[in-house]
Amino acid sequence: MSIVDQSGTYTLGGRQVKRLGYGAMQLAGPGVFGPPRDHDAALAVLREAIALGIDHIDTSDFYGPHVTNRLIREALAPYPDDLLIVTKVGARRGSDGSWIPAASREELRQAVHDNLRNLGVEVLDVVNMRFWGDGHGPAEGSVEPALTVLAELQSEGLVRHIGLSNVTPAQVREARGLCEIACVQNQYNLAHRHDDALIDDLAEQGIAYVPFFPLGGFTPLQSSTLSEVAAGLGATPMQVALAWLLRRAPNILLIPGTSSVAHLRENVAAAAIELPASAMAALDGIGARASASGA
Ligand SMILES: NC(=O)c1ccc[n+]([C@@H]2O[C@H](COP(=O)([O-])OP(=O)(O)OC[C@H]3O[C@@H](n4cnc5c(N)ncnc54)[C@H](OP(=O)(O)O)[C@@H]3O)[C@@H](O)[C@H]2O)c1
Repeated sequence: MSIVDQSGTYTLGGRQVKRLGYGAMQLAGPGVFGPPRDHDAALAVLREAIALGIDHIDTSDFYGPHVTNRLIREALAPYPDDLLIVTKVGARRGSDGSWIPAASREELRQAVHDNLRNLGVEVLDVVNMRFWGDGHGPAEGSVEPALTVLAELQSEGLVRHIGLSNVTPAQVREARGLCEIACVQNQYNLAHRHDDALIDDLAEQGIAYVPFFPLGGFTPLQSSTLSEVAAGLGATPMQVALAWLLRRAPNILLIPGTSSVAHLRENVAAAAIELPASAMAALDGIGARASASGA
């Protein structure tokens, strides 16, 4: 049994995947734009993820754009049978690297075809519809127009499962009335806990919740409490942040991002960390303080 197996499994896209996966966004160049600084190092991270037993990779064709999907294909195709690749649509990149919402029928169809071509597959396992909302946070608004297009692509056999990203609980409810929803991918971590109630609700419904920025994203988490708990356990703060997420709810699937093999191994080792109740209580306090300060 590999370390990653110790994270347990959960259903995503009709399959059981290990709860500790990998997010490929960090493999593109600075600002998630252009090619990686070191092409071979990026391929090595992807191959190491598979060697470590990871069977769930998160990506998008707007990372680069087209960069991470092409790296995934170069490093891993022909893909292992048990590998689930989750991609997302709903944005495109400007020539200056800007992120531009792209959710018209034509843009979504184009994005699905771009993902198919760049990943080198005939059908996409799971496609998350990324709503633009308010940057990294959601904003209310009907999900029906975009999901209607994705459902059409699903009925054409190009998309197996549909997920949501950057959505409110009301949007999740609306979406579930329109089509089957495989997963929700929103910002959530030890210090950013707006989705606590949503996660518990999705757990009751058996729907996977896949936090983005599990380590804090572009500004990795920093907290004296986190450092103290980590030191007490002989672990690193990033490992403890991931172990807390694994313990937080059974439907949470992790996709920490890294461009480094060393960090990847460190993150995977989080699957073996057992957090005692006292550590959970101390770590829970970080989110409570962050909420009180409006973070
Ligand atoms: N749906 C959405 O809108 C959305 C938005 C953002 C991200 N995502 C997805 O979520 C995934 C995870 O998010 P993310 O990559 O942005 O953020 P993240 O996983 O929270 O953090 C990544 C950052 O942490 C650093 N890091 C990773 N492991 C580390 C370790 N062990 N020690 C120290 N630093 C470490 C990385 O740098 P190094 O490269 O140096 O390790 C990188 O700067 C992405 O890869 C992407 O697939 C989705």
